[in-house]
Amino acid sequence: MKPKHNNQNRRTFLRKSALAGALTLMGVGGWRPNQSRANQRSSNPLGLGARDFVPTVALSTWRFGLKANAEAWSVLSKGGKSLDAVEAGVRVVEADPQERSVGYGGRPDRDGHVTLDACIMDELGNAGSVAFLQHIMHPISVARAVMERTPHIMLCGSGALEFALREGFKKQNLLTAESEAEWRRWMKDARYTPVVNIENHDTIGMLVRDETGRLSGACTTSGMAWKLHGRVGDSPLIGAGLYVDGQVGAATATGHGEEVIRIAGSHLVVELMRQGRTAEEACREAVNRAQAMFVRRGRDLRDTQIGFLAMRADGQSGAFALRPGFSYARTLVGGQTELLDAPFLLN
Ligand code: GLY
Repeated sequence: MKPKHNNQNRRTFLRKSALAGALTLMGVGGWRPNQSRANQRSSNPLGLGARDFVPTVALSTWRFGLKANAEAWSVLSKGGKSLDAVEAGVRVVEADPQERSVGYGGRPDRDGHVTLDACIMDELGNAGSVAFLQHIMHPISVARAVMERTPHIMLCGSGALEFALREGFKKQNLLTAESEAEWRRWMKDARYTPVVNIENHDTIGMLVRDETGRLSGACTTSGMAWKLHGRVGDSPLIGAGLYVDGQVGAATATGHGEEVIRIAGSHLVVELMRQGRTAEEACREAVNRAQAMFVRRGRDLRDTQIGFLAMRADGQSGAFALRPGFSYARTLVGGQTELLDAPFLLN
């Protein structure tokens, strides 16, 4: 499915978005945090006044988020919808064989199969998801087709593949020579000790806010390298890898999917923002909960990583990770994009 754009003037967008952000922070229209003005001030981590606040329009995980944000911005700056922008953004990473944790070129499972998980959600609670999908380069677009063309939210395995083929998606071999060679090297020992964060990237999770303030999110991955055949992580699970509530905000997760699922991570982050936390505070609290649960279960945290990104309905955004090394790309109204390091809990 090709995202559709319309041609709204970019300057109009910049003006409208900046104004909408300022008005929201001033408590005019849109989502109003159920808190005092003092708390609204403290919810701005830079201590900036409403006039200095520049809303975020795109937020995505890891360094590959830079190219996803650039694509999303090219949709948004023409007046496009957040749902089209978020789909277009993550498709860039899905199609890139150099990115070995998402889509085409992703590392296979222990049996040599590339299996993909993805989901998409808009500000109204429309959602679509595919899990354990093989042979399709753009699982995010299949997830969107599930959302828009079926009465369901989630399809998996051979059913998801059949649906994709019926919808006109092309069947392809997603296992590149590099990923196959790496898998064959791994097979010599075949030790099932998945290390998360091995290349400082993992899932792409992306959150986008358009000129009208609509939020959408997407999350797509090939999952843990060398996982058991049939394993599904957090990324296609609405509430774990992604959650969007247009009245409050959106969140997405990366890292060790099992730990994110255990705390229903992205839904938790959104609920914490609903209670008045800033985006970063909400992400930090979710990481604290995951860590506490990890410790209670007597597990070793050394080789694991989880990270969250969040964006409030007013465009205030933030991130937090369990361990160092989680970078993310942030694009503000106007298109200014930076790669940032998320604050973290443990060294
Ligand atoms: N966060 C991606 C996965 O665990 O599959």
